Amino acid sequence: VSARNILGLIGWPISHSLSPAMHNAALKAVGLSSWSYVGLPVEPEQIKEAVFGLRALGFRGANVTVPHKEAVLAFLDNLSPTAQAIGAVNTIIIEDNRLLGDNTDAPGFINDLREKGLKPEELSVAVLGAGGSARAIIHALISINCPKILILNRSKEKADNLITNFNNPKLSSLDFSRDSIKRAASCDLIINCTSLGLKAGSEKLPWDKDVSFSKGQCVYDVIYNPAKSQLLAKAEAEDARIINGLGMLVQQAALSFSMWTGINAPISIMKTVAEQALKP
Ligand SMILES: NC(=O)c1ccc[n+]([C@@H]2O[C@H](COP(=O)([O-])OP(=O)(O)OC[C@H]3O[C@@H](n4cnc5c(N)ncnc54)[C@H](OP(=O)(O)O)[C@@H]3O)[C@@H](O)[C@H]2O)c1
Repeated sequence: VSARNILGLIGWPISHSLSPAMHNAALKAVGLSSWSYVGLPVEPEQIKEAVFGLRALGFRGANVTVPHKEAVLAFLDNLSPTAQAIGAVNTIIIEDNRLLGDNTDAPGFINDLREKGLKPEELSVAVLGAGGSARAIIHALISINCPKILILNRSKEKADNLITNFNNPKLSSLDFSRDSIKRAASCDLIINCTSLGLKAGSEKLPWDKDVSFSKGQCVYDVIYNPAKSQLLAKAEAEDARIINGLGMLVQQAALSFSMWTGINAPISIMKTVAEQALKP
């Protein structure tokens, strides 16, 4: 194994990540048997050394996850327009000793919607949350010309900041009050980008229990573990279509894989591996 064939995941913690299993299965499936994808747990204080270490060790590239997606920007030589616009990097590619940052969360999300037959350019959308995943998804929705995007966030100031940053007339911001949620309930597609619902059994719902969803509406939760969050369970009970974040995870991984290897990713294998790994 040459270091040129090594890929990794930088995060803290990373023990629950599905990425090593997905990527190693994909590398094997396309015949890149001398390649390997390794978990690289990196404490926040060490992020600069870790990023420079990728180059020093001759890695081909890496994924970046929580809490480093924004912090790595300062140490990269170049950013794609997408990573620049979102202000976050989830994929590093090392070419000619230069560190290039990209973000495949945004196109991965759109690819997942399209794969599921949705046409986001025709839908009004409510985004719940204004953190890292919300930024990627809002950027993706703007880039495909989505007609209306409402952003709801607990701290409205953070949603307002997104509006200022993206500076797009299709965006508007709201707090997380019942009135705001009622407005969001009139949208075609509702996307949870908060971390509420992440822990199975947690009582928190990023919504109002008395505001119903309806048939014809789609509720997308970026969370995939649990596979059916309380939000998705409520939406399903009220006849809305539901989608969890597993497809987005697989699609972002597939795009990163192609950037490093130049080969189309075996998406269905990656999806099967991720599903297997999540089974209790
Ligand atoms: N499927 C995928 O591929 C994928 C990709 C990326 C992320 N994710 C998932 O997306 C989720 C969010 O990640 P992130 O990186 O966007 O996180 P983040 O940057 O920390 O943002 C968290 C968001 O959740 C909101 N929030 C947290 N606790 C809340 C509460 N008690 N009540 C109301 N709002 C609350 C925050 O609101 P405030 O601003 O008011 O604090 C913020 O908008 C995570 O569960 C992550 O696993 C999935």
